[in-house]
Amino acid sequence: MAVDLLLGLQWGDEGKGKIVDVLTQNYDIIARFQGGPNAGHTLIFDGFKHVLHTIPSGIFHKTAMNVVGNGVVIDPVIFKKELENLEKHDIEYVSKLLISRKAHLILPTHRLLDAASETSKGKAKIGSTLKGIGPTYMDKTGRNGMRVGDLELENWKEKYDALTAKHLSMLNYFDVQVDYNLAELEAEFCKGIDKLRTLQFIDSEEYLNNAMKEKKTILAEGAQGSLLDIDFGTYPFVTSSNTTAAGACTGLGVAPNKIGEVYGIFKAYTTRVGSGPFPTELFDEDGATMGRVGNEFGATTGRPRRCGWLDLVALKYAVDINGVTQLMMMKGDVLSGFETLKVATSYNYKGKEITHLPYNIEPENVTVNYTEFKGWNADLTKMTSAESLPKNLLDYIDFIEKETGVPVKIVSVGPDRKQTIMR
Ligand code: IMP
Repeated sequence: MAVDLLLGLQWGDEGKGKIVDVLTQNYDIIARFQGGPNAGHTLIFDGFKHVLHTIPSGIFHKTAMNVVGNGVVIDPVIFKKELENLEKHDIEYVSKLLISRKAHLILPTHRLLDAASETSKGKAKIGSTLKGIGPTYMDKTGRNGMRVGDLELENWKEKYDALTAKHLSMLNYFDVQVDYNLAELEAEFCKGIDKLRTLQFIDSEEYLNNAMKEKKTILAEGAQGSLLDIDFGTYPFVTSSNTTAAGACTGLGVAPNKIGEVYGIFKAYTTRVGSGPFPTELFDEDGATMGRVGNEFGATTGRPRRCGWLDLVALKYAVDINGVTQLMMMKGDVLSGFETLKVATSYNYKGKEITHLPYNIEPENVTVNYTEFKGWNADLTKMTSAESLPKNLLDYIDFIEKETGVPVKIVSVGPDRKQTIMR
């Protein structure tokens, strides 16, 4: 059986958590393959809102197994809080949640280094979620990191102490003030480690490859979005992992020829949280309306998200890089009431009109050409079938399908599980 992928095609926050939750009924295993607690996957059902950061979004289903893959970075402190939230809702997780031994650990000092690095950048700051993601992946590629499997070694604390000491000396390099109480941070970290140890550590690549041989169905759940990919995103304003399809291969140990469907999720408009270029960003009432109606605040940091029109130049780029086979459009309901909608269809770049995403997309390098659409003024949130969707919305979707060459299979019309229309 192949592994299907579910990926965000924009700058994250597309609604991956909701769709994984909806699709989980079709899968035996849900696996996260990159990122860490910088992610915030929101799921709403039965009148409750749940936000997951590291735990795969299949955890609320009775039978699905959930794997935190080797490509993920885990903060035991945040992970413990996530588990405690599940306990509050009587969600049994011990038998359903497996952790890769090869996943790297976020140490408290990784978070301090993240804060020091961001502060020292001044105006050029990335807008990081400050969860220690960048420094942890730096230790991974620098071959200094601590992995979950190290916790099974007698001398794990020595390894931890040595890495922490190194980080503290690195902190001195940054000419900025970072306040911390190491003893408190370590006490919390150790409690987190104790909680993590209540779960099963596995060789996840072996587990997943065996599962495929046993014809089990697997869904790989991406975090962040393609435009935040360390290689293909708007560098340096990106995260530190491969958020694109290839990241699922390295982050789970799944071979490229084992990838099946690639579900690409995008919002009917665009949002971005943190710094970096955003060609279709709106600074007017339209952008404010999207933010207000779409409740565009970061699920992890609470920061307001920047809003703008749908960018088909960027979307087509993401479709190509990921090999998307099915599209899923989120938050079409938020655009209800706009008289006219705009979609970016080309850029002006170095004196030419182009339809691909160029190396520089800062405002001084690109201006955007838009195609306009008539809006719709209907409450989509109660609609349950594709036939009931307004014609102008269907025209909007048709255009996206023609431009990308990929069918839009799901239209989400609200945050609840039930507000999902299959086409
Ligand atoms: P970091 O990965 O926390 O260092 O953040 C790097 C950039 O990616 C910042 O602009 C963040 O706002 C953005 N980012 C990280 N994770 C997410 C996410 O899950 N959703 C949206 N943006 C994210």
